[in-house]
Amino acid sequence: MSQPLLVQDQDDAFAEAVREGLNLPQKVIPARFFYDQAGSELFEAITELPEYYPTRAEIEILNARAGTIADHVGEGRSVIEFGSGSSLKTPLLLRAIAPASYVPVDISAEFLQSSASALSRQFPDLPVLPVAADFTRPFRIPASLAGQPRLGFFPGSTLGNLAPMGAIDLLRSFATTLGKQSWLLIGLDLAKDRETLEAAYDDAQGVTAAFNLNLLHRINRELGGTVRIEDFRHRAIWNEALGRIEMHLVAVRDTHFEAGGRGFRFAAGEHIHTENSYKWTRAEARLMARASGWMPVTDWTDSAGRFALHLWSCEPDSPQP
Ligand code: AVI
Repeated sequence: MSQPLLVQDQDDAFAEAVREGLNLPQKVIPARFFYDQAGSELFEAITELPEYYPTRAEIEILNARAGTIADHVGEGRSVIEFGSGSSLKTPLLLRAIAPASYVPVDISAEFLQSSASALSRQFPDLPVLPVAADFTRPFRIPASLAGQPRLGFFPGSTLGNLAPMGAIDLLRSFATTLGKQSWLLIGLDLAKDRETLEAAYDDAQGVTAAFNLNLLHRINRELGGTVRIEDFRHRAIWNEALGRIEMHLVAVRDTHFEAGGRGFRFAAGEHIHTENSYKWTRAEARLMARASGWMPVTDWTDSAGRFALHLWSCEPDSPQP
């Protein structure tokens, strides 16, 4: 396994996001800041919760359809995974499609190294070339892979954490990075009943609440914050009109705190919007593919019809009549 190719500087990004986001009329902290060490561990725990179905549903689809996916994309591709790789999902795909190489791409060089090393141990003959980069922008694939056909892999419905226009921009950027005649295998959570969705984002054990509240702990840890965590509670609601789960941190009483040398005041009931998780019907996902330069080929759902795995292709431009 080779070393990550590029390390990006994230210094001060959290301080700036807190300073700007908490001064907006609707206070906001972007969801990408959930994933420090503690937040990443809490997210791992979320994926094992009985209420949080997406991970299990996607694994079920990969288990059932890996052979069919291989029939579509063929052997000998370079698999470019957007994210540092899932210890459960990635091996299922790699085992089925016999790739020529595997390229996990993540902004966190640390996660990237540990997950890439674990994968190298499982697939000792597979060239693993981790790239430390911000995959929300086009980036360069290692030159040694020139000429290898590509399959992008973006599981977990991570795209759902972007608003539709941002999602389309990201999918366009994937098309630019992967190039013509590539494929994209992407997992997207399906819209469904309020009860199932709200339980998935507000579980009985309080793990998702801890994941959300970790943002406040992070302010205390990293920005010298004085947040009284007990002054806030986690809330998850299904916004049906916008087709998204929203997570908020709601002040349960009037409160204030300092962080990064500034003061922030909250009236009881005021909230910080911390995450959107969009859910798409299969038809909406196909529209999004077309809007971003991809051609929907097929999709599969789990047996309970809760989650979809989509296969799209990026065709060379062809003359239109
Ligand atoms: C990472 N992402 C796809 C998760 C989701 O379902 O939107 C993050 C998450 N937030 C709360 N639970 C899980």
